Amino acid sequence: MSAIVVTGTDTEIGKTVFSAGLTAALNATYWKPVQSGQEEETDSQIVTRLSGRPSLPEGYLLQLPASPHLSAEAEGVTIDPDTLDLPQVDGVLVAEGAGGLMVPLNREILYLDLMARWGAPVILCARTKLGTINHTLLSLQALRNAGCNVVGVAFIGESEEAVEKTICQFGKVAHLGRLPMINGLHNETAAPDLGEVQGAFPGGRSGADQPGGRSEALVEAFAKHIDLDTIKKAIQL
Ligand SMILES: Nc1ncnc2c1ncn2[C@@H]1O[C@H](COP(=O)(O)OP(=O)(O)O)[C@@H](O)[C@H]1O
Ligand SMILES: [Mg+2]
Repeated sequence: MSAIVVTGTDTEIGKTVFSAGLTAALNATYWKPVQSGQEEETDSQIVTRLSGRPSLPEGYLLQLPASPHLSAEAEGVTIDPDTLDLPQVDGVLVAEGAGGLMVPLNREILYLDLMARWGAPVILCARTKLGTINHTLLSLQALRNAGCNVVGVAFIGESEEAVEKTICQFGKVAHLGRLPMINGLHNETAAPDLGEVQGAFPGGRSGADQPGGRSEALVEAFAKHIDLDTIKKAIQL
């Protein structure tokens, strides 16, 4: 089995969408070790809807949309990192972290410590919007200080060539491409008052081109814009 970890500089930057593209491209299985918040879809549900690939059950599925340690405490649970070893699967496992790197799992360890323990290659997702140079360089430094093997940075958003180049120069890191913004990734059926739309998508899915299918727009954009060869080499595929 090979595993690859997808992390990011922050929450809501597109890690889950990137993970879905990667999971589809590698015919992989997706795993979210800790899901905090289950308002509409979980990250596992989004990845399966967009990639058409299976997701494993989360290690911890918590209600409160907060840092994992706080979501866990709200339910009287303590996250035990010993239960979060990378699961064995046939083929490739794509594991997505929560928030950023310095997110606590409990009162003792950070997500970053868990990633270092796993030892699997890491892709750092970064937005292209203002502020990203600082966040991305700090995240790279943290990953390297912890001994993680960084495959490169994958950007998400509108093109900002000078910014992307600056990050890769200062960070001495590979540019794995930039996933542009893609229309139609949302699950319309997860929004309220869409009874008619739901009827138009038997099986209750959209954002995928077919019920139970995957998003061909995402799969195509990923193939066009992301350097899959470098990622495959990092996991010896
Ligand atoms: N490449 C993209 N194209 C269109 N929408 C995107 C893209 N990446 C992320 N989004 C949207 O931005 C929001 C946050 O993305 P998500 O992947 O869930 O972020 P994260 O996992 O980092 O919290 C979601 O609504 C998602 O659909
Ligand atoms: Mg996510």
